[in-house]
Amino acid sequence: METKTLIVNGMARRLLVSPNDLLVDVLRSQLQLTSVKVGCGKGQCGACTVILDGKVVRACIIKMSRVAENASVTTLEGIGTPDCLHPLQHAWIQHGAAQCGFCTPGFIVSAKALLDENAAPSREDVRDWFQKHHNICRCTGYKPLVDAVMDAAAILRGEKTVEEISFKMPADGRIWGSSIPRP
Ligand code: FES
Ligand code: FES
Repeated sequence: METKTLIVNGMARRLLVSPNDLLVDVLRSQLQLTSVKVGCGKGQCGACTVILDGKVVRACIIKMSRVAENASVTTLEGIGTPDCLHPLQHAWIQHGAAQCGFCTPGFIVSAKALLDENAAPSREDVRDWFQKHHNICRCTGYKPLVDAVMDAAAILRGEKTVEEISFKMPADGRIWGSSIPRP
C-alpha cells in the first residue's frame, strides 16, 4: 500500500491505495463517486469513463500504478451541480438522452472532454468521438445523444439558451405523445 494524492473534481484527496487497485474501485469505494459505473469491467462499454489529466479514460482498466501523484480526475460529480446543471446535463434531459441512464455519466464526461477540445464539433465528430472512446448505449439509438451534445455545444458558444431548448408545455396542458422530459 502507498499514499497517493489525486485532485478529484478540483479537490485534493489523499488516498491509501495498492498499485494494483483499479481507478474505478478507488473512485467508487473510497470516494463514493458512484456516478462512475461498472458495466463490462473490461474497457469495452465506456460506463466508467472519467477524465484523467485531460484525457478520456476508462477507469476499469486503469491501475493506480499508472495514475501519477497529483493527477487530476474529473467524474460526473465534478460537472455542474444539482442547482446549476452543465448545459450537457440540461440537453441530456431535454432530448430524452437518459433512458435507463446507466451509460449517462460516462457519455456526459466523454462529451465534456470533446467540447473542451472542440467547441464546434459536427455530428460526425460527435459520433466518431463516442466510437473512439468506446461509449456504448443500448437504449437510445444514439441520435438523442448526438442531438444533446450539439445543443450543449451551441449553448456553450452562446448561440442558444437553455430556455430555447427546454420543453414548452402545450397550451391545452396535454402531454400525452409529447416530448416532455423525464429528468
Ligand atoms: S466498465 Fe469500464 S469500459 Fe465497461
Ligand atoms: S440510456 Fe440505457 S444504456 Fe444508454
